[in-house]
Amino acid sequence: MSSALAAETANKHPRHIAIIMDGNGRWAYRRHLPRVAGHRRGAEVVREMVQRCVDLKIPHLTLFAFSTENWRRPPLEVRLLMNLFRLLLRREARKLHENGVRLRIIGERSNLAADLQTLIAEAEALTAENRRLTLNLAVNYGGRWDITQATKRAVARHLESGESLDTFREEDLAAELCLADSPEPDLLIRTGGEERISNFLIWQLAYTEFYFTDTLWPDFDGNALELALKSFAHRQRRFGRTGDQILDDACASD
Ligand code: IPE
Ligand code: IPE
Ligand code: MG
Repeated sequence: MSSALAAETANKHPRHIAIIMDGNGRWAYRRHLPRVAGHRRGAEVVREMVQRCVDLKIPHLTLFAFSTENWRRPPLEVRLLMNLFRLLLRREARKLHENGVRLRIIGERSNLAADLQTLIAEAEALTAENRRLTLNLAVNYGGRWDITQATKRAVARHLESGESLDTFREEDLAAELCLADSPEPDLLIRTGGEERISNFLIWQLAYTEFYFTDTLWPDFDGNALELALKSFAHRQRRFGRTGDQILDDACASD
């Protein structure tokens, strides 16, 4: 590929970045600190990444904060994580609002503590009209949960409208998923060295570019994000087509 063509077909910034923020515990272990110290530092990195995305004009950011499987952790760690989440909502909601950020929590919230549910509802209502950046925070989220809840709702809606299941389409289900009104993630970043999805957005990541880094989440910074964006910029996204078709399209749109 000539460098001119390479430049033409290079991806621009992603419109939607999803991040599996992993490695907080190991960051703390290495410093002989309790795991929660890693989570605290991780929360600061969240603040920094939100600002980076605002600065870079990336309009959608989805962060995996607590999975449906994370309830299996020791009760004390779960409690501390929920407290951290509480603190974050109390302290940050107004700042997010002032910065033009819309906050949405994705995940099953009915089994979160009642006061947490209230804080979530208040923060979402406060920031609902903001459009500079949509920040989706996945809490008690699992990709399998998401597909199951969407299926229940989509099938019920379909049958209520008098249609038979034979006419049920992929789009009917997709419309009920969390993030249905956002573009699908262009780039998934997982920090902490593991190369797996861990039940994150399993439907929405069908054509997402994956970027894995050994950097632990509390160490993730602007330079690390820059590296991920650089890697993304060099990917050729084909969506099932051939590389030549993509190049032809790029030339034609000149
Ligand atoms: C990610 O860091 C944060 C959550 C899953 C809540 P971990 O706590 O999983 O950190 P490691 O993987 O044990 O280092
Ligand atoms: C994934 O990290 C979930 C979050 C980052 C919230 P985990 O640390 O829970 O993932 P596994 O258990 O190593 O797959
Ligand atoms: Mg982990």
